[in-house]
Amino acid sequence: MYNIAVVGCGVVGITSALAIQNRVKKCTVTIYAHEVSPNTTTDIAGGLWEPYLLQETPEEKVAEWSKTTYDYLLRLWIQGKAGDAGICLQPVTTATDNENYQRPNWLDSTLGHTMMSEGDLMMLSKRYGTELVGGVTFMSFMWEGATLLPFLQKEFIDNGGNIVMKYIEDIEELSGYDVVVNCTGLGANKLMGDTNVKPIRGQIIKVRAPWIFHSFLIDSEKSGYVLGNKNFVILGGTRQHDDSTKVDDDDKNNILRNCSKLVPSIKSAEIIEHQVGLRPARNKVRLEAEIKRNGDNEVRIVHNYGHGGAGITLSVGCAEEAAKLVEQMLTEKYKSKL
Ligand SMILES: Cc1cc2nc3c(=O)[nH]c(=O)nc-3n(C[C@H](O)[C@H](O)[C@H](O)COP(=O)(O)OP(=O)(O)OC[C@H]3O[C@@H](n4cnc5c(N)ncnc54)[C@H](O)[C@@H]3O)c2cc1C
Ligand SMILES: *[C@@H]1O[C@H](CO)[C@@H](O)[C@H](O)[C@H]1NC(C)=O
Ligand SMILES: *[C@@H]1O[C@H](CO)[C@@H](O)[C@H](O)[C@H]1NC(C)=O
Ligand SMILES: *[C@@H]1O[C@H](CO)[C@@H](O)[C@H](O)[C@H]1NC(C)=O
Repeated sequence: MYNIAVVGCGVVGITSALAIQNRVKKCTVTIYAHEVSPNTTTDIAGGLWEPYLLQETPEEKVAEWSKTTYDYLLRLWIQGKAGDAGICLQPVTTATDNENYQRPNWLDSTLGHTMMSEGDLMMLSKRYGTELVGGVTFMSFMWEGATLLPFLQKEFIDNGGNIVMKYIEDIEELSGYDVVVNCTGLGANKLMGDTNVKPIRGQIIKVRAPWIFHSFLIDSEKSGYVLGNKNFVILGGTRQHDDSTKVDDDDKNNILRNCSKLVPSIKSAEIIEHQVGLRPARNKVRLEAEIKRNGDNEVRIVHNYGHGGAGITLSVGCAEEAAKLVEQMLTEKYKSKL
């Protein structure tokens, strides 16, 4: 029996743990987490499937990982599990004032899309008060962070997995495991001393507006977005290089003003909650294997963190690749002992 530890129980940790259970025969998987749902960054995310704030992560990897997630969500939807899993299929309109806008290649993985015409762009520019130069409406999924975590945790535990609430100070604490998978998000900065991981602050407002069946995002300096889902609509949002998790009043007012221009009907929506989350941003996603040696001691680690503003979008694709790396490390470890 192989023993695998996963550190972290956000979307990246739980999907990785499930992918390992599904791929590696004869293994027990234990998750160690400082915080679990409803207290992780994942719980704050609207959960829109759209690659966002991924910096230098190679475009073809982003397309591959996000496609795997999209196909997984479509499968759950077809199986009739959308409600329980927090999945909602809907059109998303996204537009930008960036002159260098190019049609993203991940559009090919979606169920369909229409590039915005000059006329559409003019109409939205006028309403929003900024000059938009490119955009697209595509079919996408919303996969609500606060609902997906309990859903996947149940599946993980039903498969024989264990979740232990514990803060890991030092990776050496887990040296008894065959492989340790590092899904600590922003925590990677402290735990692994990876100073490439830096927070991008996101303040949002959760409102009740059950008449919203179409999401909108403006990607510009004057950003704003309205994301519909089953339990609430998310109004956002900031993207600041800042690590304050306190709700800011100026941000509140900006979000409400910008979003009511985008979708005027949300003016009358009832506010449920103001929240702030810190996206685990990195120059690129770190998904790789490492053997850490300390004297005679070896720890085999698979890193899977730094998913910025798209941890939910990339989760299932990255989890499958992490599970492959775990399997390879086990093969190498036990081959040398034969
Ligand atoms: C406002 C906002 C909106 C967003 N919207 C979207 C969206 O629409 N779509 C999308 O795809 N993404 C979105 N994101 C991004 C997404 O939330 C993140 O990329 C994703 O949640 C990262 O998941 P994670 O599992 O890496 O991190 P987390 O959810 O932060 O989980 C990290 C886990 O590691 C644990 N941990 C850390 N250090 C240690 C340690 N030393 N010992 C033990 N446990 C540890 C934590 O307790 C936690 O369990 C949004 C983010 C924000 C802030
Ligand atoms: C989430 O955090 C709150 C406030 O710190 C705490 O009371 C609650 O027990 C936590 N929930 C879980 C499941 O850890
Ligand atoms: C996870 O990776 C980060 C970055 O390298 C590191 O600081 C941290 O110690 C790692 N944690 C574990 C449990 O491997
Ligand atoms: C809203 O618009 C203002 C300019 O009117 C801008 O400064 C701000 O960044 C926008 N977005 C948010 C979320 O505040």
